[in-house]
Order: sequence, then C-alpha cells, then structure tokens
Amino acid sequence: MADMKTYIMLKPDAVRNRHMGEIINRIERTGLTIERMVLEMVTPEQAKANYKEHEGKPFYEGLIKYITSGPVVKMVVSGPDAQPIMRKLMGATNPVEAAPGTIRGDFGVCMDENVIHGSDSPESAEREIGIFFA
Ligand code: RTP
Ligand code: MG
Repeated sequence: MADMKTYIMLKPDAVRNRHMGEIINRIERTGLTIERMVLEMVTPEQAKANYKEHEGKPFYEGLIKYITSGPVVKMVVSGPDAQPIMRKLMGATNPVEAAPGTIRGDFGVCMDENVIHGSDSPESAEREIGIFFA
C-alpha cells in the first residue's frame, strides 16, 4: 500500500446539480485525506494539458468545451493507494455502465456529464497535480 497523491476534479455537472457535498462525504469515508481543494474554473490551457492524450479524437472538442463551461472543484487526495481507490469509487467512465453505488453510477448523466475526473495512473496523478496546482 504505497502512500500517494491523486488529482480529483468534480466536473461542472457535479457543481451545477448540487452533488458536491455528497461526493466529498464519500471521499472522506474512504479514510483518504483531501489535502487541497478549490472551487474555480478550468482554464483552456489546463483543459488542453489535462486531456492531451485525447487530442484529435471525435469527442475532444466537446470535452474541452464542457470542462471549461462552469466552475469545478479541484482536489489533491492522498493516502495509501489513493489513486486506484479513487478510480474504484468513481466507477466506469460511461454512467450507463457504472455500477450502482459508484459516484458515476449514482450521479452521472451522460458520457460528458460524468461527474468526476480522477487520475488514471500514479504518473498521470503527478502530471495533473502539476497542471492544476502549479
Ligand atoms: P476522466 O479522464 O474524465 O477521469 O475519465 P476517464 O479516465 O474515465 O475516461 P477517459 O478515457 O480519460 O475520457 C476522458 C473523458 O472524455 C469523455 N469521453 N467521451 N464520447 C466518448 O466516446 C467519450 N469517451 C470519453 C468522458 O467525459 C471522459 O470522462
Ligand atoms: Mg482519463
């Protein structure tokens, strides 16, 4: 159980639909620690850097437009196995496929409005924390 940090972001739909409190509660119940947290917009530069791997894909433009469409909650979450634990708590990318009891399964609307972002590896976590908490 490696002690690690991961980057988590509550997407614009989570804020707009007033799910922030419940999601933060679920994160705290894991025993992980929310080290940093801020409610603000994602800049176009941050959006492009964060989703660099998806550049050129059919959903890329919509994704950038969506993630910059309203305030988000940016967080650094830390603790033993923080990165894989958070991915498990989030559930599958598509809310239709995400299991009940997961954040996306319970609050997700559609593929874009899927409530939460979490780093997909320890390396991504380090990169993304650098992008959003420079
Ligand atoms: P995220 O990066 O947001 O945490 O999500 P993820 O790792 O589970 O999924 P990823 O493959 O990295 O995709 C990033 C976001 O792009 C949107 N997406 N749309 N229409 C599509 O086929 C499609 N595929 C991905 C989703 O909003 C996803 O969260
Ligand atoms: Mg991803």
